[in-house]
Amino acid sequence: MLKRYLEVAIEVAQEAGKILREEAERPPTISHKAEYDLVTQADRRSEALIVSRLQKYFPDHAIAAEEGTGKDVTKDAAEYRWHVDPLDGTTNFAHGYPCFCVSMALARNQELLLGVIYNPIYNELFYAARGEGAFFNEKRMRCSKVDAIKNSLLCTGFPNHDRHANPNIHFYWDFTLLSHGVRRDGSAALDLAYVALGRFDSFWEFGLNPWDTAAGVVLVEEAGGKVTDLQGRPYTLGGPSILASNGLIHTEMVNVAAEVATRKLMQG
Ligand code: IPD
Ligand code: CA
Ligand code: CA
Repeated sequence: MLKRYLEVAIEVAQEAGKILREEAERPPTISHKAEYDLVTQADRRSEALIVSRLQKYFPDHAIAAEEGTGKDVTKDAAEYRWHVDPLDGTTNFAHGYPCFCVSMALARNQELLLGVIYNPIYNELFYAARGEGAFFNEKRMRCSKVDAIKNSLLCTGFPNHDRHANPNIHFYWDFTLLSHGVRRDGSAALDLAYVALGRFDSFWEFGLNPWDTAAGVVLVEEAGGKVTDLQGRPYTLGGPSILASNGLIHTEMVNVAAEVATRKLMQG
């Protein structure tokens, strides 16, 4: 059955990707959820397609989709739940920066079973099913072998809301000085997919939602990497922070983050 769920997720993500490609050809229709938090017609059309397809294929499954169209209170106790970001990287999309994707994951109770991430502009498909390995455009993918931060390329992100409350700029500073560099690409789902593929050696961020990270977590773990919170504790979907890495630099990442956090506390 896992194979069937994965096949459907890939088919639906690619179909939604087609919508994003079409919409990317037109001037974006932007509205604001908050001052810097954008939503476009592309987000809504992509989500409508994904939700209607999943409801048709799997009427008993719950769907937690970012723009809310899949919310169904009667399914709160459902065994299976899809976590859907119909367009991760909306700000990039709205500016014509081709770094955005569709992200879909399926969980059974609390366990993440599969993840699919699709960048429709580069036609890059990332997918993984629990225990079956992770794949990039049909080829097996694995995290990098870099074993020290000083040789690494890192990635992080900053939220579109409550920006002043976010401590990440302090972490960004330290990790930038210690590594080859820290990219800030604007799509948490793709950032995680890139850790799974070895383009990045580690990624961290504060305050992400389940639809941003669920698929990427499966990809990284199935590609041999590790996912925790920034303090090295088990990661929970929607938790305050996430740290994903190739596994080899994980402890070093946690240690640097702890130093930054302590220094920030001492400075008040
Ligand atoms: C955002 C992106 C971005 C991250 C933000 C998210 P959206 O998702 O993943 O990289 O830094 O925190 O909200 O709004 O483009 O789906
Ligand atoms: Ca998102
Ligand atoms: Ca989104």
